[in-house]
Amino acid sequence: VLVQQFANTPNTDYAQQTARQTAQQAIIQVHSQLGQTYWSWVNGQYLQTETLVPSVNPSNPDEIIGHIGLLNSTQADTAVAAAKTAFSTWRHTPASERIACLRRAGELMAARRAELAAWIVLEVGKPLREADAEVSEAIDFCYYYADEMGRLDQENNDTDLPGETNRYRYFPRGIALVISPWNFPLAIATGMTVAALVTGNCTLLKPAENSAVVAAKLAETLIEAGFPAGVFQLLCAQGSTVGAHLVKHPDIHLIAFTGSRDVGCRIYADAAQLTSGQTHLKRVIAEMGGKNAIIIDASADLDQAVQGVVQSAFSYSGQKCSACSRVIVLEDIYETFVQRLTEATRSLNVGSADSPDTKVGPVIDATAQQRIQDFIEIGKREGDVALSMDPPSTGYFIGPTIFTHVSPDAQMAQQEIFGPVITVMTAKTFSEALTIANDTDYALTGGLYSRTPAHIEQAQTTFEVGNLYINRGITGAMVARQPFGGFKLSGVGSKAGGVDYLLQFMEPRVVTENI
Ligand code: SER
Repeated sequence: VLVQQFANTPNTDYAQQTARQTAQQAIIQVHSQLGQTYWSWVNGQYLQTETLVPSVNPSNPDEIIGHIGLLNSTQADTAVAAAKTAFSTWRHTPASERIACLRRAGELMAARRAELAAWIVLEVGKPLREADAEVSEAIDFCYYYADEMGRLDQENNDTDLPGETNRYRYFPRGIALVISPWNFPLAIATGMTVAALVTGNCTLLKPAENSAVVAAKLAETLIEAGFPAGVFQLLCAQGSTVGAHLVKHPDIHLIAFTGSRDVGCRIYADAAQLTSGQTHLKRVIAEMGGKNAIIIDASADLDQAVQGVVQSAFSYSGQKCSACSRVIVLEDIYETFVQRLTEATRSLNVGSADSPDTKVGPVIDATAQQRIQDFIEIGKREGDVALSMDPPSTGYFIGPTIFTHVSPDAQMAQQEIFGPVITVMTAKTFSEALTIANDTDYALTGGLYSRTPAHIEQAQTTFEVGNLYINRGITGAMVARQPFGGFKLSGVGSKAGGVDYLLQFMEPRVVTENI
């Protein structure tokens, strides 16, 4: 069956004691496997390389999760050549075979879900429940894109006339380069990679350096699922050098990127340059940052609003592109809201990601920690500190921080911080709140807490975001239910986990036959 009825994978129910025990055992088991060396998977084998870099646990940087062998540009070129050779066969593989590989990958991830979640907890410092939800999302991408490919592969004779048939069919583009981020090291890497594979492209996955062990685990499942040599390859390499080299490579047809605005804009520009020997234009799909706002009007249920802001701002330490970093509160309830928000935030446990009561774990690395601390210093000059919390001293921790009385055009209100730091601003009218919300370079997620139908209606037409959430938190988009992605400087391309996504990975052709 090519198309099945898609249903989201349920997360683990940690209220069950057996689930908690399984999770704990998985953490112990993964601990016993720390410090191994991981190589790139090139043309059907692991390729040993000279340069090794450690990937460390952000909760405890003395703990090395794994050593990553980095490819140089010449070695990356051999992977491109292998992909080119493999494409001559893979492009003709029936969609049903590719779909079957995706479903097997989904099954393999489901069978390893506790272990995969444990690797995520330890390598990128994501608390367990969120790591578990990330595994669900990765599985969802496999099954959803499998179904979508089945749908797109169906023959359609709607436009036939007597004596003439018209066939609209999709073909792969060629070689896809996937550049994946560390903040969803499994889910986003899986989503972009399996989308490229199921549509018939040979795919090179270049993961972020500091989440390459999780990427290696993903690679294990894709290899076991049956993607042939040269069709799927894992390229661990330095982004700024080898990644940039691959973006400019004349044999790459498509680049799917999720990461920072700076890198995304550079990829977009570099990919637009024709290089010698290149006879096609590259397609770029780039998911970048956000400066996401939640508006709270005077009719809002404040219990719900406080909980939604806390969750959206501080889960995974604010390191989701969907995270809330600005709150815009109507002035009548501003003081009450700020007081309740700071009290609720103060109750969050900040600590090691593998501890069951941790709500806010570390940030990814020392560079991020320093950048966020620098922003906090800027915030102290631009506004008032309503809350600052002391984090643990070992590990890359930042205590949740709330600023108030910040001007909408201040740096804190305009620049993406990517940490557990928010500014709470005030607006006199609902229209002013929307104007402030829209007044950034970004358009990714946004939220509204309100029980006023006219405001809800106005936000739906006027709030410029790719994903608008009303009376709920603004993170945690589910595959198929909330296709995810933004516009303006938040990105280019159609939404991940939505009906248009796979189309970007293919070229449509029409064959008209007189009969
Ligand atoms: N899709 C994620 C979310 O919605 C962010 O990348 O939170």
